[in-house]
Amino acid sequence: MSRSQPQTYYLRSFGCQMNDHDAERIAGVLEGMGMCRVASPEEGDILVFNTCSIREKADTRLAGHLSLAGRLKKEDPGKLISVTGCLAQSRREGFFADFPFVDVLVGPQSLHELPGLLEERLASGRRSSAFAETTSSWSADLPRVRVDGPLAWVQIVAGCSNFCSYCIVPHVRGPEASRPAEAIVREVEGLVAAGVREVTLLGQNVNAYGAEPGYVGDISFPMLLEKVCSVPGVERVRFMTSHPKDVSADLIRMLAEPNQVCEHLHLPVQSGSDRILSAMRRGYGRKAYLDLVRRLRHEVPTLSLTTDLIVAFPGESEEDFEDTLTLVEECAFDAAYTFIYSPRPGTTAAALPGRLPAGLAEDRLKRLVAVVQGQALEANQALIGRRMSVLVERPSRQDPKVMMGRTRGHKPVNFAGHARSGELVDVEVLEATSTSLRGRQAI
Ligand code: SAH
Ligand code: SF4
Ligand code: F3S
Repeated sequence: MSRSQPQTYYLRSFGCQMNDHDAERIAGVLEGMGMCRVASPEEGDILVFNTCSIREKADTRLAGHLSLAGRLKKEDPGKLISVTGCLAQSRREGFFADFPFVDVLVGPQSLHELPGLLEERLASGRRSSAFAETTSSWSADLPRVRVDGPLAWVQIVAGCSNFCSYCIVPHVRGPEASRPAEAIVREVEGLVAAGVREVTLLGQNVNAYGAEPGYVGDISFPMLLEKVCSVPGVERVRFMTSHPKDVSADLIRMLAEPNQVCEHLHLPVQSGSDRILSAMRRGYGRKAYLDLVRRLRHEVPTLSLTTDLIVAFPGESEEDFEDTLTLVEECAFDAAYTFIYSPRPGTTAAALPGRLPAGLAEDRLKRLVAVVQGQALEANQALIGRRMSVLVERPSRQDPKVMMGRTRGHKPVNFAGHARSGELVDVEVLEATSTSLRGRQAI
């Protein structure tokens, strides 16, 4: 069976920033094949779902989208459906059994194969898939379609070798691999030439950059930060995610010194209980994390510190959970993402006894969120009356006369003023909620 050449594509991405960044590359590859993007699955000749597998909710949400795609394909059998990303990689060919209308499956290390697999499907009618286990071809080297604006992501590390016991990422994104520094710097130079003012260096564990066995380069993460800062025209540099066990003195120095590196560190702690941290295989204990936070607060007084937390890990007792609450209280985070533990097939934690009832897990999540929101509000209210440097991103969604930007600490600020996207302006903070600031442009 041979089909006509697809003209349009619909692309929907789920999951983390790394996946959103991969979606920019998927769009680049499809546009390289001559296709145009459309806004609804009904209009697309090819529908691409770039999936996430981090928690069970991600799987169930996708199933809804896919069943709509299946119905659309029944009406128009010429449509092609491709599933890319982490869930494709974790389920592999099993996916075809559950969703027989899917044409092409591509894991995150195989995005460069997408055109060939689509061509093959079009030419032969055979379903096809690619699931490379390691990063041999960087998706970051593929063509890219980026929304215009002053911000851009730059991938510096692929995969993860930490194997935290609950986490699917190392199983689907392969072992940690550091991208050559020259390619990173070249990409940053190109982005600045295209009008970008702020880059966010991306990886599951960015501060382990260059640490994997077999890495051929000779620069560490703080040295890479210096290189990126020295690209003319880069106003701000961010990075995520950092792992507590890999925070070095040089990284703290880069955060503390006056340079383009923003004073924001996303440092997931996951739990405050030593017993649970050890069962999670995080590689640090409660005291080490608290000591690190004390040191960071001392050396970088303006630091904005954010984290990720998991409640109801298997076997988590009330005492373990209270250890998390007291750790959070001590750290005074600026913001935290909170999750209920979700068993992922194939991870070691999924086989552990001591699963907690859903009601108890939800109750703990509520108690944790209350503490987190209280301290986020306090941290934001402490900024009222201050003048802060804000990089303007876009008009606010509610009111086009109001602009939205972020502080160096990554806090969103809405303010009245005449600034344009990409400008750095001073804003006086007038009001604060637990998630954002409101102010006026200072003159
Ligand atoms: N590489 C980063 C983030 C990975 S995923 C890091 O190491 O911190 C983002 C967050 O999802 C994690 O920090 C963790 O809090 C959460 N997460 C990962 N697996 C999970 C699971 N099985 N159940 C619930 N939350 C999970
Ligand atoms: Fe997952 Fe742990 Fe790797 Fe983060 S460091 S991606 S939580 S295995
Ligand atoms: Fe990201 Fe989800 Fe994969 S969080 S790395 S898209 S499993």
